[in-house]
Amino acid sequence: MIRSVVRGFGAALPKRVVTNQELESKVDTSDEWIVQRTGIRQRYIAGEGETTASLGEGAARAALANAGLTPDDLDLIILATSTPDNTFPATAVNIQDRLGMRHGAAFDMQAVCSGFVYAVTTADAYIRGGLAKRVLVIGSETFSRILDWNDRTTCVLFGDGAGAIILEAQEGEGTNADRGVLTAKLRSDGAHRDKLYVDGGPSTTGTVGHLKMEGREVFKHAVGMITDVIEAAFEATGTTAEELDWLVPHQANRRIIDGSAKKLGIPLDKVVVTVDLHGNTSAASIPLALNAAAGDGRIKKGDLVLLEAMGGGFTWGSVLLRW
Ligand code: UT7
Repeated sequence: MIRSVVRGFGAALPKRVVTNQELESKVDTSDEWIVQRTGIRQRYIAGEGETTASLGEGAARAALANAGLTPDDLDLIILATSTPDNTFPATAVNIQDRLGMRHGAAFDMQAVCSGFVYAVTTADAYIRGGLAKRVLVIGSETFSRILDWNDRTTCVLFGDGAGAIILEAQEGEGTNADRGVLTAKLRSDGAHRDKLYVDGGPSTTGTVGHLKMEGREVFKHAVGMITDVIEAAFEATGTTAEELDWLVPHQANRRIIDGSAKKLGIPLDKVVVTVDLHGNTSAASIPLALNAAAGDGRIKKGDLVLLEAMGGGFTWGSVLLRW
């Protein structure tokens, strides 16, 4: 049986760090409120010349170096983003060009904060279907560019950055002992699309628009939706929370992360948390967290790792994989 195995990982962050203290001087907020409600202490904000494509390129190059591969070795690039450089073409083809890759295919995937989980699931389907052998999966975002900096209920929450992994076709036995993606569960419910959205677009206003969120409404649904797809992943594979080595959740809010882990009986020392350092980087948050935890040796080859995300749409999903 063909499995999609993580061959390499990498990340890239903007140069500029913006602390809660710095925001206090520009927005009617406080470090205490932000830390208490979200766990965020700082975020990275893209400066001149830093875009979703440039950050994505940085993450891609780091993942290629980590894997010991070159762009010639890739068949496909999938970029998860809701903040593309242009309405079209896909920012993935911009990154393809920056990498000097003149073969294969590249496209963007839009599932907001669940984008990376959607992109990994899609890459896994390409690999298991025999359509690609190596897929570069990137999550890259510049949410700072769609924030309303006069809206304190949203502007303190988000940050910019990019992370990437390379998935490679490898032969497995078809058991949970295999390395690679073991199962993936995706969900969406468009009835909730006006709870977290951007109030612009090419076909409506002709403008880019700004992020709008009913935070309390999103919060209310988050833990239930996250536990739903995690339980579905456990059921599909016959695994249990006790067998997990690491939970790598989408990093939106420390309270949502802790609440989901508690409900599932996953101890907090098995949960990778980077929301304090990065804020909510939407589709980039999971690969940034993977890069942090695999980079410092916490996530090791053979570990059972669970990814989960929930966000705009609503969309939500999980991926269970053996690193
Ligand atoms: O990426 C996936 C999608 N995003 C999320 O998962 C986010 C989900 N939602 C949340 O994380 C939380 O709902 C927030 C962090 C956004 C807000 O936390 P909350 O505990 O739900 O706060 P709230 O919206 O109920 O607001 C509480 C108070 C309000 O004041 P009053 O009306 O009680 O007097 C707000 O005006 O906090 C006030 N407030 C702030 N105060 C200082 C809102 N934003 C700020 C701020 N600084 N930045």
